[in-house]
Formats: sequence, structure tokens, C-alpha cells
Amino acid sequence: MEIKKVGVVGCGIMGGGIAQVCAEAGYQTVTREINDELLQKGLGAIKSNWSKSVAKGRMTKEQEAAALGRLKGTTRMEDFEGCDLVIEAVIERMELKKEVFSQLDRICPPHAILASNTSCLSIIEMAAVTRRPAQVMGIHFFNPVPAMKLVELVQTIITSQETVAVARKFAESLGKQPILAKDSPGFIVNLLLVPFLLDAIRAYQNGLASREDIDTGVKLGLNHPMGPLALTDLVGLDTTLFIADAMYAETKDPKYAAPTLLRKMVAAGWMGRKSGRGFYDYQKGA
Ligand code: CAA
Repeated sequence: MEIKKVGVVGCGIMGGGIAQVCAEAGYQTVTREINDELLQKGLGAIKSNWSKSVAKGRMTKEQEAAALGRLKGTTRMEDFEGCDLVIEAVIERMELKKEVFSQLDRICPPHAILASNTSCLSIIEMAAVTRRPAQVMGIHFFNPVPAMKLVELVQTIITSQETVAVARKFAESLGKQPILAKDSPGFIVNLLLVPFLLDAIRAYQNGLASREDIDTGVKLGLNHPMGPLALTDLVGLDTTLFIADAMYAETKDPKYAAPTLLRKMVAAGWMGRKSGRGFYDYQKGA
């Protein structure tokens, strides 16, 4: 099966990034948001990334115009009609994801692959609401999508080998490196990342070191591009808490129990970079 047209449900940080790399790689791309305001915000971020790429000489003006021509924004689910692959990147709520998969199953052609970009939720539960569970899998990108090379392919107990093979070829065509994971909590990367982030937050909460020293320790001692508290700000504190809670609910393993500080910061509306405040302050002039 050849993928020509890709749909992306959601045009937030992840959905927008996925739509951007698909359009850049030559796919006709449709991205859908729930209202025009969010759609324009998402498309604006993609266009701004392309302008920066042109300014840096990473993309020509012609390539930018061609990518723009391949990208369509919409607020209608029906516009996924004719897609060969649709990647769902809506908020991490299972009920909402099931509703999206059920709609996609009705709208998309029978050959289409339906994928979820979920960080931690069970793919088989989404597959089960469709009439094509063998063509449902996880295609999990990393933030910021244009800069991160990895894509986790998540195979359920029903996903066919052919579906995985098509997804592998697709990920490679985006210039990404795919890895294959089973449909188990946190797949590969979050299984390892989440306890690490939570331990760093617990260390900070318990006054073991300053936020700067925790981050510098990991950056310079382990050669990570950013420390765990800065990375939690990038991922989003709400997202990190959601993933931790979901993994704890599934496994009951205390290593996924979220520290009180993380819960309190989320309750305060400190979501990290996207809200202007997390472990660090991102507001203008801070
Ligand atoms: N959108 C698009 N592109 C971006 C970007 C963004 N938000 N941020 C950075 N980039 C691009 C830049 O344009 C630049 O591209 P070029 O080299 O082509 O010019 C490249 O990334 C490097 O950026 P910078 O030079 O500005 O900055 P940097 O070298 O400090 O890198 C970083 C920034 C890529 C974010 C780096 O700090 C990094 O890799 N951090 C770790 C990120 C990480 O671990 N992400 C995974 C999070 S976990 C997750 O996503 C999964 C989950 O389920 C929770």
C-alpha cells in the first residue's frame, strides 16, 4: 500500500509538528482542529517554523511554497475522506480517542491505516471500536517533532505485520528512525523516561538540590541535551502528570506515583513552557 494522503487529528504542539513533517516530506496533508481559532494558531506555528527554516537556509523558498501547498487545515472530520493514513493527536483522554477512532473508521477508506500518537494509552482499546483492528497501531512522535529523530511504532496483539511494515516505511520517509514497541504502558521511551522525570521532581521537592543543579548534573554528567526539570517544562507538566497517572493506574508500580509538587503545580496552572511557567519562568522579561 502506498501512502499519498495523510490526515492528522489535532494541530496542537504534537499534531502540528506531525502535520509539518508530513507536508515537508511530500505528503498531501490534512490537519483538523476543533475550532478555527485553534486551527489558525496551529497553522501559524507551522508557517513560522518554515519561515525560520528558510531564514536558516535549511529550506528554499520554493520548498516552503510547495509544502504550504500540500498542507490543508480544516475543522471537519469529513475532510479525512480519501486519506491513506490518519494519525490521531488529540488530548490524552481515552473516551475522546475512542470517539475519534470510531468516526475515522466510518469516514476513511477501507484500506486506510489509523494510528494514535498517544504517549501511554492502550492502543488496543482504540482499535477495538473500529472494524479494522488489524490496521490500527501507535505511531508515537517526540517533541519537538521536526527536531526529534525517533518514532515509536506500537504493535498491538492484533496489528498486522503489513500495517507495521507500511508505517515503518512511512516513518523512514519522514527522515525518522523507527523502533518497534509492544502495546504496553509507556511503550519503550516513556517506560524509561517517566520514572526519571518523577525522580528528578521528587529530588527538587525534597530540597536535595536546586533546579539548576539537578538539570546541570544531568546535562553535563550524562550528556543529555536538557535536564529533567527543563524537559518536563517542554513536555508539559499536565502531560507528564497524565502519563504518570495512567501508567500508575495500569501497573500500580510506585515508580510511576506522581510527586505532590507536580500535582500542585498543575493545579496552579503551571504547565511548563506552554503556559509561561513551570519549573522555570518563560514569561517575557523573566
Ligand atoms: N519546533 C520545531 N523545531 C525546533 C523546535 C520546535 N519547537 N525547537 C528546536 N527545533 C529545531 C531547531 O529549528 C533546530 O533545527 P536546525 O538544526 O535544522 O536549525 C534544532 O531543533 C535544534 O534547535 P536549537 O539549535 O534551537 O536548540 P538546541 O540545539 O538546544 O535543541 C532541542 C533544542 C531539540 C529541544 C534539544 O534541547 C533537545 O533535544 N531536547 C530534548 C528533547 C526531548 O527529549 N524530547 C522528547 C520529549 S519526550 C516526548 O516527546 C514523548 C512523550 O511522550 C512525552
